[in-house]
Amino acid sequence: MGEAPATGTGREGAGEIDSTVPHAARVYDYMLGGVTHFAVDRAAAEQAAALVGGMERIRSEVRANRAFLGRAVRYLIHEAGIRQFLDIGTGIPNDDNVHAVALQEAPDSRVVYVDKDAVVLAHAHILLKDAPAGSTTYIQADFRDPDDIVDRGSALIDFTQPVAVMLVGLLHHFRDADEPGELVARLLRRVPAGSYLVVSHLAGDIHAEEYVEASEALDEAMQEPLVLRTHDQVAAFLAGCELVEPGVVQVDEWRPPGEPAPGLEGWTNPLYVGVGRVP
Ligand SMILES: C[S@@+](CC[C@H](N)C(=O)[O-])C[C@H]1O[C@@H](n2cnc3c(N)ncnc32)[C@H](O)[C@@H]1O
Repeated sequence: MGEAPATGTGREGAGEIDSTVPHAARVYDYMLGGVTHFAVDRAAAEQAAALVGGMERIRSEVRANRAFLGRAVRYLIHEAGIRQFLDIGTGIPNDDNVHAVALQEAPDSRVVYVDKDAVVLAHAHILLKDAPAGSTTYIQADFRDPDDIVDRGSALIDFTQPVAVMLVGLLHHFRDADEPGELVARLLRRVPAGSYLVVSHLAGDIHAEEYVEASEALDEAMQEPLVLRTHDQVAAFLAGCELVEPGVVQVDEWRPPGEPAPGLEGWTNPLYVGVGRVP
């Protein structure tokens, strides 16, 4: 393992910020209630929200995704003994980022954040400012090049030891033609047995009529694709892993199963999640 950088932004290769076309990271930030978005992002988000019950509901849905991310990190630390996290498709910093949860639960945790978006890069310092030196870093990279991510992530993560690969809200930004399953497989070939894969993915078979229409509107508007998938299609991403109970389930049902997230009472959030152990 190389020398761990205290902080890093990997500014090389930073792309331009295009404020004229909606971008997934900024649309998602608006949906979460953040402040890092342009008028085009807000317009696209509102157009989609109008098709599926309004922005308040969407906001609750994406917050439930963030809450799952926190539950998954706590599970990995306390029940799986994981201390290394590779969070790909990090998004614009918000509350409860992976390192904030991980370092609180286990101060010896290490977190490598990865995103391809120039706006995320521009805000990456927020991810790093409260992190102790050597615990957290950020790489601007593309999930389409898993080897690049592992090679550069090796500055902080020891890839001979188990790693949690976090693909939270990422894989629905890839079309089948991009072969996201193959990208996941390539990445998992670079981590040792005892590593974990965490996935959350928008569902294409829950409230399908409204959500397919809304996702198609966003898919057309945004720089990135947006592709909903069925339960079986999402489960296929974890097919090479031993599934952690309760398997690939609707987000409210994952460890511990409980009530719907605040604001979603009586509503099934169309989001599948799952965690698997690399054999
Ligand atoms: C919906 S956000 C998810 C943010 C966070 N993981 C969460 O679940 O709260 C998706 C993120 O994936 C990033 N992304 C999309 N395609 C990517 C790619 N090919 N490589 C790396 N990141 C990508 C976007 O820039 C965006 O920040």
